[in-house]
Amino acid sequence: MPRGKSFFTRAVHAGERASQPDFKPVSTPIYQTVGYLYEDLKDLDQIFGNEREGYVYARYGSPTNAALEEALANLEEGEAALTFGSGMAAVYACLLAAGIQNGRSLLMAQDVYGATYAIGARLLPKMGVEVEFVDVTNLEELARALARVRPAAILLETISNPLMKVADIPRITQMAHLNGAKVIVDNTFATPFLFRPIQHGVDFSVHSTTKYIGGHGDVLGGVVISSKENRATLHEIIKMTGGNLGPMDAWLTLRGLKTLPLRMRQHCQNALEVARWLSSNPRILKVNYSGLPDHPQHDLAQRLFPEGRFGGMISFEIKDAGRDEIFRFMEALELILPATTLGDVYSLTLYPAMSSHRALTPEERGKIGIHDNLVRLAVGIEEASEIIEDLDRALGKL
Ligand SMILES: Cc1ncc(COP(=O)(O)O)c(C=O)c1O
Repeated sequence: MPRGKSFFTRAVHAGERASQPDFKPVSTPIYQTVGYLYEDLKDLDQIFGNEREGYVYARYGSPTNAALEEALANLEEGEAALTFGSGMAAVYACLLAAGIQNGRSLLMAQDVYGATYAIGARLLPKMGVEVEFVDVTNLEELARALARVRPAAILLETISNPLMKVADIPRITQMAHLNGAKVIVDNTFATPFLFRPIQHGVDFSVHSTTKYIGGHGDVLGGVVISSKENRATLHEIIKMTGGNLGPMDAWLTLRGLKTLPLRMRQHCQNALEVARWLSSNPRILKVNYSGLPDHPQHDLAQRLFPEGRFGGMISFEIKDAGRDEIFRFMEALELILPATTLGDVYSLTLYPAMSSHRALTPEERGKIGIHDNLVRLAVGIEEASEIIEDLDRALGKL
């Protein structure tokens, strides 16, 4: 900016739009800009018209988000990915892209994250969508529901929140496709380290990247991995409705992603140790963890996931406990934090009836099996023996 220009003009433009560098930054820069400029307006015109790739406006995409999308599509072995400002924005966009609209129907796993359940139970019915909840671990019931409802799509979780049921995604995908239904899998708990839904024919693999992918409890986000064609449909939706992940948050997520395998290795190892300890503890009524031989889908989990790895999420029921005892137990924990999230480096505990599944009525929770003595534990990457020590001490206070 020539120094002869006014102070006002220089304050706005000085230092901006430096000439193209001949160096390359090692890590992806944060493109903290809303608009993009081209030498020739014809370029902008072609990008708006989808005739060439590029960037015009941050709601349409950004190079930082594109780097994260490329990395996530690569790790999940899908063709393409699109990032969102939160996991729920990604789930909702998926439903629209899968053809959920007035007059169509949706099958939803009955044991899913509370906000997802609420979309199915409360939001979609108001919009003229018929929603039926099914136990996706009962394949006979599922086959009957598919034939009867003829849904546009089915939505389920690889490892369910909060009961840790494991779904036979390859088989369910086959069944759904035979009935003309698209398949949406929330792969948040499994992460691409354990399972890659697209490899099994799933149409949309969705994650709350807020969890294991970001991994540090400092950034909200979501992603959908799918075919290029489905990504184009999702892109049209995000261009209209927004819900984008900001470039700074995309950068933080990309930074977290780099250590996903290291963290997941430790999460899985720690969770197995903690689950074994809990299941041998007389104060515990039931442990939900697919790495335990008595878990109803233990064999399936062994087939679907890499050897000896079952994820970092556990839930368990405490004997003779209700809300008051659970609160006392959670308050007595010192290392394990009572925070409403999961998938972080920290060990975190949550009371589903109060938080993640609060949107459900007590009857809905009871029907699914989310009882008032159920605690969810996201096992972190600390030393396993110290996580166990903390649990032991807090259980001792009951
Ligand atoms: C399995 C699952 N899916 C989706 C979500 C929603 O993600 P977000 O909070 O990023 O919107 C959550 C949040 O806890 C979750 O546990």
